[in-house]
Amino acid sequence: MKHILTAEQFTPAFLVALFKRTEQFGMQLKSGTGKIWLRQRLANHLLFNVFYEPSTRTRFSFASAAHHLGMHLVETESASEFSSAIKGETLEDTIRVLCEYHPSAIVLRHHEDGAALRASTVSKVPIINAGDGKKEHPTQALLDVYTIFQKFKTLNNLTIMVGGDLAYSRTTRSLIHLMAKFAGTRFIFVSPPELSLLPDVLEHLGNFEVPYIEVKENSSDLIKDYLKHADVVYWTRLQKERIPQDLLPKISDIFSITSEHLACMKPTSILMHPLPRNREISTEVDSDHRAVYFQQPGNGMLVRMALLEWVLGQAPFENSLRYDK
Ligand code: NCD
Repeated sequence: MKHILTAEQFTPAFLVALFKRTEQFGMQLKSGTGKIWLRQRLANHLLFNVFYEPSTRTRFSFASAAHHLGMHLVETESASEFSSAIKGETLEDTIRVLCEYHPSAIVLRHHEDGAALRASTVSKVPIINAGDGKKEHPTQALLDVYTIFQKFKTLNNLTIMVGGDLAYSRTTRSLIHLMAKFAGTRFIFVSPPELSLLPDVLEHLGNFEVPYIEVKENSSDLIKDYLKHADVVYWTRLQKERIPQDLLPKISDIFSITSEHLACMKPTSILMHPLPRNREISTEVDSDHRAVYFQQPGNGMLVRMALLEWVLGQAPFENSLRYDK
């Protein structure tokens, strides 16, 4: 069974094959006959979207991906409140019950670290982790890396600046794990001191000899010295819902990326954000050609289409890959 639990599970070879398929799906969606062809791909399969936490992009993109592939969809957007979780049902019991309705896969978003792994131990069908706690958001990492690949046509020898709330953001953790697999990746981490990367990620980078530097200051000026080295600048918001309440008042908000920062970036670089943003990217840079954060969501739907096809054993590239999980 092909669960998607962690960004760590994917090989570079898998990504290349998946992204080729993603590109094909993007082309097909542009024509009427292509759309009809897509509708047959996963016709009559049933997908469950089970979201215990708020979501706009992830939920809508999985739903739209399912729709374009001809699947049926049943979903709950606020499972913490509107499922039997409120009556005390465990995640494991809910998953066991949902499997009895014969879905082809379950997309799960949950507030607890490791929830998708727990669900996978009792599930009869593939679990797709749509973000659990502060740890993992593997499908977001795939769409982020696809966006990087689209721009640079390679995933090797890139300098990635990752900034903002690095302690509680799951998208940055998953992105770092995925990009660390590519030759020549270098990281620059920028965060307020209280929100720096957790030791397990740094240890992982150390084990794989991936070079990185950490700038543990929330300084809008200091970062300008580093921006000129970055190919990718990936910025994130303060994860207020996950930061312990007693710590929150002591943490200053992430400073805003403005046109002054863009002026320091390479003309060939890109500025990314998983969204939603608060004030950490000023709207004044939205129209800069390097700002790609409104292209990421569309890529997310296409990557998730290719993923759904693969999870359900229908991907034509299946046999040409070594999947090391
Ligand atoms: C992210 C998440 O849920 O972790 N959102 C998303 O899926 N694009 C990022 C965030 O909420 O900050």
